[in-house]
Amino acid sequence: MPGGRDCGANTVRFVSILASALDTRGAEYAARREAMLARLAELDAEHAKALAGGGPKYTQRHRARGKLLARERIELLIDPDSPFLELSPLAGYGTGFPVGGSVVTGIGVVCDTECVLIASDPTVRGGSTNPWTLRKVLRASDIALRNRLPLINLVESGGADLPTQKEIFIPGGQIFRDLTRMSAAGIPTVALVFGSSTAGGAYLPGMSDYVVMVQDRAKVFLGGPPLVKMATGEESDDESLGGAGMHARQSGLADFLAADELDALRIGRSIVARFNWRGRGPGPPGPAAPGPRHSEDELLGIVPEDLKVPFDPREVIARIADGSDFDEFKPLYGSSLVTGWAALHGHPVGILANARGVLFSEESQKAAQFIQLANQIGVPLLFLQNTTGYMVGSRYEQAGIIKHGAMMINAVSNSRVPHLTVVMGASYGAGNYGMCGRAYDPRFLFSWPSAKSAVMGPAQLAGVLSIVGRQAAAARGEAYDEAADAAMRTAVEDQIEAESQPFFLSGRIYDDGVIDPRDTRTVLGICLSAAQSAPPGQPGPPGRPDGGSQAGYGVFRP
Ligand code: COA
Repeated sequence: MPGGRDCGANTVRFVSILASALDTRGAEYAARREAMLARLAELDAEHAKALAGGGPKYTQRHRARGKLLARERIELLIDPDSPFLELSPLAGYGTGFPVGGSVVTGIGVVCDTECVLIASDPTVRGGSTNPWTLRKVLRASDIALRNRLPLINLVESGGADLPTQKEIFIPGGQIFRDLTRMSAAGIPTVALVFGSSTAGGAYLPGMSDYVVMVQDRAKVFLGGPPLVKMATGEESDDESLGGAGMHARQSGLADFLAADELDALRIGRSIVARFNWRGRGPGPPGPAAPGPRHSEDELLGIVPEDLKVPFDPREVIARIADGSDFDEFKPLYGSSLVTGWAALHGHPVGILANARGVLFSEESQKAAQFIQLANQIGVPLLFLQNTTGYMVGSRYEQAGIIKHGAMMINAVSNSRVPHLTVVMGASYGAGNYGMCGRAYDPRFLFSWPSAKSAVMGPAQLAGVLSIVGRQAAAARGEAYDEAADAAMRTAVEDQIEAESQPFFLSGRIYDDGVIDPRDTRTVLGICLSAAQSAPPGQPGPPGRPDGGSQAGYGVFRP
């Protein structure tokens, strides 16, 4: 295990401090750093779009109404000077919808309690829910449920984005289902209603455990006055149909009537303070941890622009692990995958990191063993991805690359400890699966601006299509059109290259955000702390009273 351990009379020190071979004065480092900084500038520009919400016109109108912006509400709700880990800020990127998804989600600390916050942004099309808003909100609820974090909705929304209702109406019911499942699982849910919460949106407060409404501002009804007039002929007004005062005094939907927005935020904090939430999970990680011995700033200069050039992930680990202390496991075996023990902000972690991109049988078996070891001792796993996938070729097929890759995927799928994934570089093919990509349910997954993900690289994919096309033409006895083939390859390569980009994938909520490599340790520290609210699952498959196989894995084929 990492670091020193006081074993009674003898203090045993383990020497596992990583040295660095990074030449920070060399041209290679400078070029990599420059490329990363350029991509970070692009990332800042996209984040700025999310921060700008609906733009100056709608922001000024909102302020003129005496209202706070979504991020201001969050800032006043969380503990002073505490961090807020924003999730999915690029939602909607490249889709034609505004970047940010008209909602802000993330993890913040409220009265010493880590919570998931979901705040609609009323400056973007009335805060209405478009398909990317929905995916972003469902991901935030999933994070709350899986990590057992209380959920606070800061509501002011025009409900479904009406022109795209077909994409959201039916799947959108999950928002309300998740709220009540959380409640049933003992995870408190709170709705602070600042403005409109109409139609389906009325079930946000309706399904929450605690509801606070702002006097003269919150409006919660199934149908507004025009709809009621149409449906029943009744003449009504906003206040009698769904005003905060009515809900606090008559319908009983509001548990607290707030005098204004600040009062609602204060009441929200006092609700959380009484959750009696501390003490869940395995407890605090212990005394303050030492930072890495090597500068986190140097994380900018490690990943090459050309991902075909390998890099040593130990250089990354040396800049994120406490004290740069990494106790490598099986260093001489399956050396394309680095495995070992470290700690981050005092949280113990097992790390799996790709070294030379390709995964062979040895790497797969080593990974499966390492994952089992982490499960045996209940230590979370961190996957640092830079993989081109499992090795192809007759030699490797004959040696059982499929069954060994399957073994690794089996171990990843059935592992019960929290998983965190960072896509640093390539994430291609089944390597994405074995290294705990999005479909393998890591508690959190972040990408660096250097990340790229697809079924295979653009040139390989276009080349495969070309070979298949050539064979098909030969089978038909036709001549192959070389000019058309060249045009097809260029078009396909461009398309796959664009679709492999991290902003594009983040826009589709295939990760929880693209982060500055320098923030990796901080982001992972917040995630590890959040993840410990939900202890690892019990071994053995559910539904087997005898617990089934001891570790709860699928059948391995050695
Ligand atoms: N779907 C699509 N667009 C919507 C929308 C929705 N549900 N709600 C608002 N918008 C758009 C508006 O058309 C307007 O666009 P424009 O500026 O390009 O004309 C923009 O968002 C701002 O709306 P506006 O009405 O000017 O803002 P407001 O702050 O004065 O009022 C609401 C906000 C939400 C109270 C009001 O827009 C409203 O009642 N919307 C419809 C609510 C509803 O019935 N939803 C049904 C859900 S199932």
